[in-house]
Amino acid sequence: MCGIVGYIGGDPAAPFLLQGLEKLEYRGYDSAGVAVYDGTSLRVVKAKGRLQVLKDLIHDGKDVPGTVGIGHTRWATHGAPSDINSHPQVSDSGKFAVVHNGIIENYLALKQHLIRRGVSFVSETDTEVVAQLLEYYYKGDIMDAVIKVLQKVEGSYALGIICADKPDQLVAVRKDSPLIIGLGQEENFIASDVPAILSRTRDIYRLNDNEIAIIQREGVRIYDMDKELIPKEPVHVEWDVTAAEKGGYEHFMAKEIMEQPKAVRDTISPRIKDGRIVLDNITLTADQLKTFRKIFIVACGSAYHVGMVAKYVLEKMTRIPVEVDVASEFRYREPIIDEKVLVLVISQSGETADTLAAMREAKRLGARTLSIVNVVGSSIANESDDVIYTWAGPEIAVATTKAYSTQLAVVYLLAIYMADLSGCLTAEEYAAYLTELQALPDKIEKILQNRENIQYLASQHFNAKDVFFIGRNLDYAMSLEGSLKLKEISYIHSDAYAAGELKHGTISLVEDGTLVIALATHQNLFDKMMSNVKEVKARGAVVLGMTTENNTQIEQVTDHVFYIPQTCDVMLPSLTVIPLQLFAYYVASMKGCDIDKPRNLAKSVTVE
Ligand code: AGP
Repeated sequence: MCGIVGYIGGDPAAPFLLQGLEKLEYRGYDSAGVAVYDGTSLRVVKAKGRLQVLKDLIHDGKDVPGTVGIGHTRWATHGAPSDINSHPQVSDSGKFAVVHNGIIENYLALKQHLIRRGVSFVSETDTEVVAQLLEYYYKGDIMDAVIKVLQKVEGSYALGIICADKPDQLVAVRKDSPLIIGLGQEENFIASDVPAILSRTRDIYRLNDNEIAIIQREGVRIYDMDKELIPKEPVHVEWDVTAAEKGGYEHFMAKEIMEQPKAVRDTISPRIKDGRIVLDNITLTADQLKTFRKIFIVACGSAYHVGMVAKYVLEKMTRIPVEVDVASEFRYREPIIDEKVLVLVISQSGETADTLAAMREAKRLGARTLSIVNVVGSSIANESDDVIYTWAGPEIAVATTKAYSTQLAVVYLLAIYMADLSGCLTAEEYAAYLTELQALPDKIEKILQNRENIQYLASQHFNAKDVFFIGRNLDYAMSLEGSLKLKEISYIHSDAYAAGELKHGTISLVEDGTLVIALATHQNLFDKMMSNVKEVKARGAVVLGMTTENNTQIEQVTDHVFYIPQTCDVMLPSLTVIPLQLFAYYVASMKGCDIDKPRNLAKSVTVE
């Protein structure tokens, strides 16, 4: 997720581009840049770091003259944050400059194709391929070149394009990434989202997939891929800037919960090619995999809870023993580690101190390390032997949601990949798991469409004093995350228990009216869970049950039920977590809590 802006009009472009990018920094903030036509050529200035670095570099735009230009603020996916990898990316001769939001999945193949034809690349980005292809196909008609490029690239993109030969226009096109056109008086705009342009106009065109916009000072024309003109109705935006940054949601957490289908799809789809899982940048071989006598998983907070799920899933599918540790314990307990151990490190930020130190300790002891990280170029990503990135985009809310869900998706990709490498899966099982995996985003979407039911349950229980989450197997791991989400944003005391443990003492805390959230999504443990639910009901608990659609008998023993769609056992956590996030969110918002910035909680704990 990155932020794109463009301007063409009578005013200096650069100052507006910087103002627009400032409003889009929630979409990415690891580097930024602008390209402005200064009357003779494209002037491109870009820099690693927050937008302020660029603003200082060009004195708020005063150093870059010209009235047409594009700008970008980045959330790296391909190529760690650096001046060179920042956008705009430029073609060999400097004729084309491109800003991009999305992922060009087949960029490596296209890059090789162009290199063989003498094109030289300067960056590690997927985006530079677009700039180079534009120049490769350009024969004087910019739209022809754009269409040829779009016929070659695969993946998701929102593109802002400026050509030194055609300084009287900007070109914009999108597929699976958002892009709007702002309509002004004698000036027009491109933007990833409305906050960037609200200071200049509230009238926009929402671009649909594969529509090509030619934006000039006098007006905007929209074409389809056959160069047919498309009539468009402008939309008038009512939102204020703050609301717009949150996509119209009250909190970033709500926005990020709703972004999960796309985040999971963006993380999964580039890694499945022709019915096979392709983990491009990991170098782990089947032979190496066979040498591992054990897998350790280290992480903190919610990432540790993903580790709990990964233990069940990896052991079940690869039959390699897995141990999960909170990083702050692992690093000081002299774990038994050697070169026959794989240490899986999970972190959204890639900077959490305990997790980083635990990984360094594991490396010192000879382990092979593989990290699952959301921030490209972060310390954990840079220092681990292999890294698999989650593509959740920046997560602004402190309480993680979409990053958590993309980490689960990577765990499934990894488990299927490793199980296949170690011959633990038949071809049918492999294909079945891939089918279930690719169906997850739509099933998450379905649960989100049902969120009113959770909102209702939250309205019944937001005054609860104590809440117990119970479950067995993966549902126990999910209870831990459900409990943490509720605690960290609503300040209600809650605890998670393996349901079979309750009778060994803790059940004494369950009394009349105690709220118990019982997760019973596993078919083979459903009856066991029903008996645990009856135990707490017998003590007067109010029980909210969660299970899959086929288990309606749960209604006989619970006060309320929330049903999730069916999927294979190992992938149920991806569906179970959504209602748990929603419940915590609605309870906290009904209590008027500061959800995006819970009291004394940092996004990632880096200081020791
Ligand atoms: C979860 O909502 C919290 N933000 C926190 O527990 C977090 O998961 C933990 O600090 C680990 O952060 P990381 O994933 O960036 O390493």
